[in-house]
Amino acid sequence: MKKILVAMMIMIMMCSFAFAGGASETATTEATTETATAAPVRNADKPVVFYNRQPSDPVSGEIDMETMNWNDSTFYVGFDAAGGGAVQGQLIVDYLATADPAVIDRNGDGIIGYVLCIGDVGHNDSRARTEGIRKALGTWNGTTDPGDVKEGSANVGGTTMRVVELEGRAMTGTDGSTWNANAATDAMSGWATRFGNQIDMVVSNNDGMAMGCLQASNYPAGVPIFGYDANADAIEAIGAGTLTGTVSQNVDAQAAGTLQVLRNLLDGLTGEDVYTVGITEPDQYGNKISAEMVYVPETKALLAQNTGVNASNWQQYTEGTRDAGISQSSAPTKRVLLTVYNSADNFLSSSYVPALRYYAPLLNIELNIVQGDGQNEGSCLDRFTNVGNYDAFAINMVRTNSGPDYLERLRY
Ligand code: BGC
Ligand code: CA
Repeated sequence: MKKILVAMMIMIMMCSFAFAGGASETATTEATTETATAAPVRNADKPVVFYNRQPSDPVSGEIDMETMNWNDSTFYVGFDAAGGGAVQGQLIVDYLATADPAVIDRNGDGIIGYVLCIGDVGHNDSRARTEGIRKALGTWNGTTDPGDVKEGSANVGGTTMRVVELEGRAMTGTDGSTWNANAATDAMSGWATRFGNQIDMVVSNNDGMAMGCLQASNYPAGVPIFGYDANADAIEAIGAGTLTGTVSQNVDAQAAGTLQVLRNLLDGLTGEDVYTVGITEPDQYGNKISAEMVYVPETKALLAQNTGVNASNWQQYTEGTRDAGISQSSAPTKRVLLTVYNSADNFLSSSYVPALRYYAPLLNIELNIVQGDGQNEGSCLDRFTNVGNYDAFAINMVRTNSGPDYLERLRY
C-alpha cells in the first residue's frame, strides 16, 4: 500500500513538473514577442473586462460578484440599464402626451392596446426595459414576466386613457437564440391577425426586434413603434417615419470604454485611474471619452448613459458619429481576445463591433474577435483558447452566469 502511495506521489510530482515546464515555455515565447525584459504575466493576473452582458443570475438578476472579484483587473463596462428603461418609458409617455386620441386609438374603445417584444427574459437589459415601459404605462405588476401585467393608464393628448398590454413575448428563435428578430416578425404577424385594430402601439426592447416587427407583411401601417439601441437602420427608419423612437445606449462610449479600461490596466494603472483616465479625464496621449460615464464601485461597473431618440433629434445619431475625443495613442501594442455571444445579434454586429474596430487601432489594441451562435456557450468558449497568446480579455457571454467557465480557462 505504502509503495503504491509513493509511486502515485512521484507520478503527481512528475506531472506538475511537466505542467510547470509547459506553462513557462509559453510565457517565454510570449516575453520575446513582447518586450524581452518584461516579466511574464500569469493568465490569472491578466485584465478581464466583461461587456454588454453583465455577469449576473439569469433568474434573479443579482450581479455575480464572485466573477467580478476574479482579480483586481476585472471590470464590467456597459450602460445604465435601469436608467435606460426609464428613458424608454418616458419616450413613450411623451409621445402619447402629444398624440391625438382619435387617431391613436384605432378601434375607438378608449383603450391604448400595445404589444411588447421582451427579448431575453434572463438578461438584465431586457428586464430593465420591460420594467421601465410597464412602470411608465402603469401596467407594471411587480415582475418582468411575460403576461404578468395589470391595466394601466396614460395621458393621451390631454385625456387620461386606459392602457392594456395585449401580449408580451420573449422572442426566442427556433434555434434557441434570444432577442431574435425573425421571432419578432412571426409574433407581429400573429398579433396583427389575432388582435387586429386593438393594437395601437408596438414596443420592443431592442431595435432588431422592432425592425423585425416592421417586416411583418400585415404590420398595421402607421401604428407607432418603439425600439432600443439606436442602430443605424433604426435611426434611418426614424428619419423615414416608419420607426417612432429608440434609445441610444451610447455604443461609442461603451466600446471606447471597454478598450480604455483594458488599455489602462495594461499600462499598469491601478485604483481610480483604471476607470477615470481617458474616460473622465484625459490620458497621457490626450484621449478622453466625450460622453459621460459613471463608475459604480459596488459592482465594478463603468456605465454609459442613455438618451431618447425620435423625430426631433435623430440626425444627431446617424452612422459614423465617432467620438473625436479619442485620437491615436502611442502606447505599446497589446493583444486582446474578445468574444461576441452571437454573430447574428443586430446591436453587437451593426453597432458595437464596428465601434470596437474603429477605436481599437487608435488605442493600439490588436483585437482578435471570436463570435458565437447566441445559444450554446461552447460556441464562444471553444474559441476562448490559446489564452497565453493574449495580454487581456473582453468577454460577452451567451448566458450571463457563465463567467466562471471563462475564468476557469485563465486559472493557470
Ligand atoms: C441590446 C440588445 C442586444 C443585447 C445583447 C442589449 O444591450 O440592447 O439589442 O441584443 O444587448 O446582449
Ligand atoms: Ca384602442
